[in-house]
Amino acid sequence: MTETATLIIDGRSYELPVLTGTEGERALDISRLRSRTGLITLDDSYANTGSCASQITYIDGENGVLRYRGVPIEDLAARSSFVEVAELLIFGELPDDEERAEFRDLLTENSALHRDMRKHFDGFPADAHPMAILSAMINAIQAYDLPEIHITDAGGFRRAAAALIAKTRTIAAASYKSHIGQPIAYPRYDLPYAENFLHMMFSVPYRDYEATPEVAHALNMFLVLHADHEQNCSTSTVRMVASGGANLFTSVSAGVNALWGPLHGGANMAVIEMLESIHEQGTPVARYIDQAKDKKSGVKLMGFGHRIYRNFDPRAKILKQAADDLLESMHITDPLLDIARQVEEAALADDYFRERRLYPNVDFYSGIILRAIGIPLDMFTVLFAIGRTPGWIAHWKEIHDNPDQRIHRPRQLYVGDPLTEWLPMGER
Ligand code: ACO
Repeated sequence: MTETATLIIDGRSYELPVLTGTEGERALDISRLRSRTGLITLDDSYANTGSCASQITYIDGENGVLRYRGVPIEDLAARSSFVEVAELLIFGELPDDEERAEFRDLLTENSALHRDMRKHFDGFPADAHPMAILSAMINAIQAYDLPEIHITDAGGFRRAAAALIAKTRTIAAASYKSHIGQPIAYPRYDLPYAENFLHMMFSVPYRDYEATPEVAHALNMFLVLHADHEQNCSTSTVRMVASGGANLFTSVSAGVNALWGPLHGGANMAVIEMLESIHEQGTPVARYIDQAKDKKSGVKLMGFGHRIYRNFDPRAKILKQAADDLLESMHITDPLLDIARQVEEAALADDYFRERRLYPNVDFYSGIILRAIGIPLDMFTVLFAIGRTPGWIAHWKEIHDNPDQRIHRPRQLYVGDPLTEWLPMGER
């Protein structure tokens, strides 16, 4: 028997179904609330709203659990390649040998950009932000690869997904090369995904860049840890755009824009800027923490806090160790890592952060890793976008494949002016 909850309004009672997810989490089904009662729910910033039922990613924020298609993030970070994780998220299962080989071939075949897309790179000013370039160029792909846009069967979707994952990496590296005035490096067909990206970023015509295994491993892990995170700001954007029937490339381009903000993916840049400013100005960590607690200061502790994680972010835990390991293997001492550790320790001991259950999130240590690899600061959020692309594709597919899908269209409580008379110019 379906569990229900009773809602009493104006003396009338209504039974609302209570739904239970795979892991026992419960949700009040209000999908017929308005038609039955005339009321809507109001949940500014959606902290209590489930926007969909999804099979892709599970998070238990109280216990720091994250799983892609049921598989724990710790196992994927330690053992899987980014491409394998992409297949898991998008197609629902870890690939077998044959599927893996076929998808890798698709990625390889689709790595290069149409020759005429070069014009677009030339059209951007040299100091254009790489996130603006990435979103514009992902949207532009559809003008050049038309057959992949109209997805009608599973094979077409596989090709489109591979094209998007492969070309996002190529666009990202090419935007960096354009920015620094170097010739674009073409993808190599013999390199795995992370190594190929590093080659396109750092090879120059007279010298090929060879990533060390440690660097390739760290970048692969970074991408795996960013690959999906259920209904966050950018993924919800992708789903929203997709619900209107928009194609894969346009929907993901919208996700890139949503990711850009400093409260979301832009936080990985903001963390390094914060640590650099503490370092350069010699600000005592305790004073910075005091500023972050003072609402009037406009300062936040970047890389801290999360809407869902209220205990710890499992990605931050893995990345903290990975940052330590990478710097040690590269024999690098980064003063920012020391400052990050001090900031974390001070915040975790402080009542303000403890009471609000604010912990380091995925962005707190990821920038230390990207810095060590040599990724420039304004590419950090682009790296996040490369990592998140498989997740966005998986969510687009969930919308696209749902025969009952309706356009996403929230309602509102209007609190503006009541009926107001239009006045001619002289009477306003
Ligand atoms: N520094 C100082 N205070 C904070 C911080 C922080 N980083 N984060 C939250 N708080 C405070 C809030 O001011 C609020 O205080 P109050 O109860 O006295 O009003 C309380 O903690 C609760 O925080 P909310 O803002 O309600 O949390 P919300 O879930 O809306 O926001 C967010 C989550 C955006 C991540 C927030 O913690 C934040 O701004 N963090 C810094 C930016 C950041 O690291 N973003 C990356 C998030 S992970 C990702 O998107 C990839």
